[in-house]
Amino acid sequence: MSSKILIIGACGQIGTELTTKLRELHGVDNVIASDINTRKLELVNSGPFVILDAKNFNAIKDCCINHNIDTIYLMAALLSATGEKYPMEAWDLNMNSLFHVLNLAKSGQIKKVFWPSSIAVFGPTTPRENTPQHTICEPTTVYGITKQVGERWCQYYHDKYGVDVRSIRYPGIISHKAMPGGGTTDYAVEIYHEAIKEGKYESFLSEDTNLPMMFMDDAINATTQIMAAPAEDLTIRSSYNLSAISFTPEEIADSIKAEMPEFKMTYKPDFRQAIADSWPSSIDDSVARKDWNWSHDFDLKKMTSEMLTQLKKKYQS
Ligand code: SER
Repeated sequence: MSSKILIIGACGQIGTELTTKLRELHGVDNVIASDINTRKLELVNSGPFVILDAKNFNAIKDCCINHNIDTIYLMAALLSATGEKYPMEAWDLNMNSLFHVLNLAKSGQIKKVFWPSSIAVFGPTTPRENTPQHTICEPTTVYGITKQVGERWCQYYHDKYGVDVRSIRYPGIISHKAMPGGGTTDYAVEIYHEAIKEGKYESFLSEDTNLPMMFMDDAINATTQIMAAPAEDLTIRSSYNLSAISFTPEEIADSIKAEMPEFKMTYKPDFRQAIADSWPSSIDDSVARKDWNWSHDFDLKKMTSEMLTQLKKKYQS
């Protein structure tokens, strides 16, 4: 029997494309998309959709019972930049939603959980280059703290209660379908939209800020791959390091200029610079590559070409 999936936070940047992919893999009717509101009409109209508050345990539980759900992807979160503006809200949403889902899994209602962590678990004392899987994690953002603590709880629920929870530390994710909301790596998405719309972009990070990034197709593949892996192959139950490419704002601008020589880039770092400066510039993901055969496909050139092609279609049609 195909598993019955609930995606919480389905209208977000990753949730949107994850919903499409999971519906391809498991059948439209086996994937229930949910979010706090119906802001994304294509998604609402493309298959089963419920309005669900990730902070409401009973609402999640009722939804799981009503739809016979056995697997949850918990994609709702307040990201790094928004979290600094609303620290208590970030703590409330990011932690309580995770406890709700872990407790449903502990009770046996749910058999498998995906919960995303982030490079934000790292901090200024973490080795910046090729950051190892097991290393110092002293995050400086509320978002990073929620992800670090969440990782410990995932490990705890796995070890003490046998909960099958799987997690990835996503780098910055670049996509053309849904906009990211409130992250420090968002510049690497905005830049492509502005390149097509205005021919120029002002970066809120300095030209030499090197951060780990990934194209959405790779992120979605990683997510479906880790969820399909045999449980006994997974040696990490906190969260796996995951890596594809690293680049600076100057390098992404250069990759755009290679296709659009007239593109202009300027720099005006804001409060997000300090967050970016506390994060690694590259990640060692050899454990993910060994345990569940992770590998990425998109480099910077291929990603830029795909982003510009798709966004031209979007804005020029
Ligand atoms: N993209 C996220 C952020 O910038 C990192 O997980 O907050």
